[in-house]
Amino acid sequence: MRKRESAVKNAVVKYGKERKNLLPILQEVKQIKNYLSRSDISEIGAEMGLSSAHVYGVASFYHFINLTEQGQNIIWVCKTISCYMKGSNDIMMALEERLKIKIGETTSDGKFTLLQTNCIGWCHKGPAMLVNDEPYTDLTPENVVQIIDSYYKK
Ligand code: FES
Repeated sequence: MRKRESAVKNAVVKYGKERKNLLPILQEVKQIKNYLSRSDISEIGAEMGLSSAHVYGVASFYHFINLTEQGQNIIWVCKTISCYMKGSNDIMMALEERLKIKIGETTSDGKFTLLQTNCIGWCHKGPAMLVNDEPYTDLTPENVVQIIDSYYKK
């Protein structure tokens, strides 16, 4: 718990209080705490001499900085045109059925949050998704369930 409580101060010490360091600080705190709460936003602003509105504005611009509590693993299914044409909707439906949640929701055990993203650079091997930072490509409704199930064994 101590680690979580001191995440903001540690990140500011690590990167420095200059405005240009805001993004790496946001990323570091998110990495440790899983998401940025309102109090994290305020604390970062106070530590860096920035308004909370400015910190929030930057944080909310990036999809990888979560502002609500997320599951242990975050699934990002690509929704952009190449993946869509190759069946990303079928992938999403298979995930929703397997996890018993809809887009934007987190499983009751806190293991997964299911989200969509724009292109992640694997268009030639779509449909594609990320689980946390790990890319998975050439997805089918069958293999995506196997991928998710492998996370329950980790
Ligand atoms: S369109 Fe899906 S990875 Fe580029």
